[in-house]
Amino acid sequence: MGLGPEGVVDEIKLAGRMDELTSFIVMDVLERAQALEAQGHSVVHLEVGEPDFDPPPPVVEAMRRAVCNGKTHYTHSLGIWPLREAIARRYLERYGVEVSPERVCITTGTSAAFLLIFGALLETGEAVAMSDPGYPCYPNFVRFVGGRPRPVPIAEADGFQLVPERLEAEDLAGVRMFVVSSPANPTGTITGRPTYEWILEKGYRLVSDEIYHELVYTGEKEFSGLAVSDEAIVVDGFSKRWAMTGCRLGWMVVPAGLVRAVNRLSQNLYISPPTPSQWGGLAALEQGSSHVECMRQEYGLRNRLLVEGLRRVGFSVAFPPQGAFYVFADVSRFCSDSFQFCMEMLHQAHVAATPGIDFGRNETSRYVRFAYTSSQEMIREGLSRLEKWLATRL
Ligand SMILES: Cc1ncc(COP(=O)(O)O)c(C=O)c1O
Repeated sequence: MGLGPEGVVDEIKLAGRMDELTSFIVMDVLERAQALEAQGHSVVHLEVGEPDFDPPPPVVEAMRRAVCNGKTHYTHSLGIWPLREAIARRYLERYGVEVSPERVCITTGTSAAFLLIFGALLETGEAVAMSDPGYPCYPNFVRFVGGRPRPVPIAEADGFQLVPERLEAEDLAGVRMFVVSSPANPTGTITGRPTYEWILEKGYRLVSDEIYHELVYTGEKEFSGLAVSDEAIVVDGFSKRWAMTGCRLGWMVVPAGLVRAVNRLSQNLYISPPTPSQWGGLAALEQGSSHVECMRQEYGLRNRLLVEGLRRVGFSVAFPPQGAFYVFADVSRFCSDSFQFCMEMLHQAHVAATPGIDFGRNETSRYVRFAYTSSQEMIREGLSRLEKWLATRL
């Protein structure tokens, strides 16, 4: 629908592919929460997966200098060379993996990286396997390029892991690729090495989303898909651990034979990633680690506070999340439809959280995702509102 010259609403015929694209429910929750705030209510935000921190000061300074010094023009479509080199060094230092900077492609957020990779590799009708529940944009990227998402159910009893024994039992006909996010959104689970090995041994292309790496609180060590195979495609970015969501900067490491295809696509789709952000990204890699560690420690405290608090008010959290900044809590003691539950929680308790159905169809109406991207004070306030509100429901 759109507004015509007289302000009359016109029907606009959308392309057929739009029928399959689902909306991002978390954004609907956020918009409703903002409407309540506009009416003067205070809302505790536990819905959006966006860090509440600002980027590290050296990043802000590097972007300021870039803008002041005329670094505001297009760059190479695969990004500035010093940033590609710095990312290659990170793989050696952090994961012990040697990667040529030629294979590092800078993108406008990891979102663009997924579009490029699925666009470059998927034939119409080919399937991409992914966990259900999982990050809701993956299936939409796949559909957008004519592919077919193949959700694979994961169970809380398995710690929300995509475990090889269960994968063996799935009919994966037509699947060409697997996308695995670890630590995962919405469960915070770290995927174990056997899963990656199973995917590669069976001959599937592995796309490893590592955007939540370093945001780990339980002592486990995440490892890179590249540590399992040089043929893995690794997607990562600056949004989460460096709190640079609005800078729209990500990267991927691809096999040498894919670089030119990614290059051709990025030239056409967006020409080059944002230039000042790329200089900020370089500063993040070179001077950002102590800032990342401070944020990680704070998220760790919030993780414990929220898990304990959610259990106290009566929700079930069988496995405390190991990483990212989400708790996927079972609320089925209180409702059978977590979408309805979240709407009531928002309107009656003024606490915003995301219903499980945003993340798939596998028992997701039992779950709600709480993001700990708000301060400890706000989390305490949210928990206290929930405790009072739930007491009235039982
Ligand atoms: C698992 C996962 N991958 C990718 C993204 C997208 O991040 P970006 O800001 O780099 O596009 C998100 C954002 O929430 C995410 O949760």
